Amino acid sequence: MEQKHGKIAEPIKWVVEDPERKEVWWPSPELKKRAWVSDESIYEQSGKDPIAFWAALAREGLHWFKEWDKTYEQDPPYFRWFIGGKINASYNAVDRHISTEKRYKAAIIWEPEPLDEPARVLTYYDLYREINKFANALKSLGVGKGDRVGIYLPMIPEVQIAMLACARIGAIHSVVFSAFSADSLRSRLMDAEAKVLITADGYYRRGKIINLKAEADEGIKGTTVEKVVVVKRAGLNVPMLEGRDLWWHELMKGAAAYCEPEPMDSEDTLFILYTSGTTGKPKGVVHTTGGYLTQAYWTTKWDFDIHDDDLFWCTADIGWITGHTYACYGPLLLGATMLMYEGAPDYPEPDRWWAIIEKYGVSIFYTAPTAIRMFVKYGEEWPRKHDLSSLRILGTVGEPIDREAWLWYFYNIGGGRCPIIDTWWQTETGGTLINSLPGIGPFIPTVAGRSFPGTRHVVLDENGRRVGVGETGSLVQLSPFAPGMLRGIYKDPERYKELYFSKYGDEIYYTHDGAKVWDETYNIRLGGREDDVMKVAGHRLATAEVETALTDHEAVAEAAVVPAPHEIKGEVPVAFVVLKKGWEPSEALEKEIVAKVVKAIGPTAKPQAVFFVHDLPKTRSGKIMRRILRSLMKGEPVGDTTTLMNPEVVEELKARVAGAASK
Ligand code: PRX
Repeated sequence: MEQKHGKIAEPIKWVVEDPERKEVWWPSPELKKRAWVSDESIYEQSGKDPIAFWAALAREGLHWFKEWDKTYEQDPPYFRWFIGGKINASYNAVDRHISTEKRYKAAIIWEPEPLDEPARVLTYYDLYREINKFANALKSLGVGKGDRVGIYLPMIPEVQIAMLACARIGAIHSVVFSAFSADSLRSRLMDAEAKVLITADGYYRRGKIINLKAEADEGIKGTTVEKVVVVKRAGLNVPMLEGRDLWWHELMKGAAAYCEPEPMDSEDTLFILYTSGTTGKPKGVVHTTGGYLTQAYWTTKWDFDIHDDDLFWCTADIGWITGHTYACYGPLLLGATMLMYEGAPDYPEPDRWWAIIEKYGVSIFYTAPTAIRMFVKYGEEWPRKHDLSSLRILGTVGEPIDREAWLWYFYNIGGGRCPIIDTWWQTETGGTLINSLPGIGPFIPTVAGRSFPGTRHVVLDENGRRVGVGETGSLVQLSPFAPGMLRGIYKDPERYKELYFSKYGDEIYYTHDGAKVWDETYNIRLGGREDDVMKVAGHRLATAEVETALTDHEAVAEAAVVPAPHEIKGEVPVAFVVLKKGWEPSEALEKEIVAKVVKAIGPTAKPQAVFFVHDLPKTRSGKIMRRILRSLMKGEPVGDTTTLMNPEVVEELKARVAGAASK
């Protein structure tokens, strides 16, 4: 079935409601017919021999300079994929496509934040040329195989060019989110011992120009960085240090047009990506080449059912793993067209995203629950202004999505026609691992789905026994481990072992996530990080579960629940609630909200207090920072707030909590 874009009388219904069950949807016959995968037997078949299954996928999806000698090997807690295979990520992302009809297909459509600036479209050939030249430019700076290169760039196409140019010559990239401060940049560059940093003069955010070079200059102090390459994006007059700083465009002028791709070992490191843990020191998650690319290719293709005529938009910033896999490697490996947007989702107005979807005819849209909740707060009048009928598939990632947000997304963005693919995964897993596939379903609010074919996840209790249907426990991955999984924490093997392979032994990967076995098919509902799980009078209670109940109330836009110490019950939940536009806090409303929670889960979940607040503390990636709320409730210092997107809310929260305590 051909997809229809633009204004059409009756957009295709990609999903149908389950007549037997409430709030369960299945792929429509059109979607089943079109989908790459629609036969459920894939789960059973891949499960019989996952190693052979992945070997076939690696062979079909990617070009290998030399095939591997052995597909999989395990030496707990370590494991390797496609041993002896030779491959290059950049060759697979561009060279392969330029000898096909994809040569002049758009690879990246880039929308700048300023409305009066034209979009940039890079074809696969454009991208190929730029990557080759920049690879040569890097070589001219003395960068070689195995060297680490820091990338501190905003959402401009130079970021994918830089990543793939590193991959082309076998250098290891380490992207640092451009909104991170100089201090965060410094600690990452130091740990990675980066030789070169690629940055920009500045970028647009909410109509203002952010001076990124100033942060970069500060961030490289005391590091091993020898050269800084600067992209001219904002036209800022930034100081350039003679002998150290070089303009991207000038380097590119002199660069030769072709650079031979380095044949990398399948297990050579492709990139390091730092992720924050609770300890403060960021850990460098190491991903290798062959396995990561295999998982990136097939999860992008199957999860989002990407075809040649689709336009895929993953809204994640490149500084996160989602940006790496679904705004760079995955779509480019497939030869798909992706959309990339530079700026803020609600600039100049809260309908910017919806305007972009309408303007370009985005057909697959992948975003995070936190963004959806923000739009819930703005109200449905904003998406209603736009024709979103080009959309076919919606995705979500990053945290458990509550029922309210799911349904809002489903009806107000997807028009009740599009499946929502709720993908569970982590920086550590490289690619998605648990979600329903578009052609198979089911699509159920708050339930992510099943393990991706060829992978196995189970839910264990404290003693390592598998829990039954309807029960909760810890989510783990069983071996053979997915090919895209991390291979270590950079320079810290002890931490790798301790974090992921100690709780249940060295042959079981511990995800740190709580989960519930939803049904006999082993669909899974995620319950949030285990460090956010409370014990209330001995009962295990996920904060996410209470939050879902809270946001089920029509007045609630967002909610965060954390444990507060309780002398008899050990811990009790307290709720921080942001109300929707048009609602005012009141005692009656508080009672109503609390009653809703008790009704949905039971009396143990009853929040001890409800704090109505204007905003919740969030990281720059938009995740609610419950650590701050937990500390507040415990009366402990809140600690470092510099990584917050909105540090100013902390004072309001402190006052609210103190006010309640003195009552
Ligand atoms: O708790 C899970 C949550 O995000 C964590 C991983 O965070 P990060 O490494 O930043 O990667 C996020 C993007 C892949 C997980 O341990 N998480 C991620 N996706 C989901 C989720 N929780 C529930 N549902 C999801 N779909």
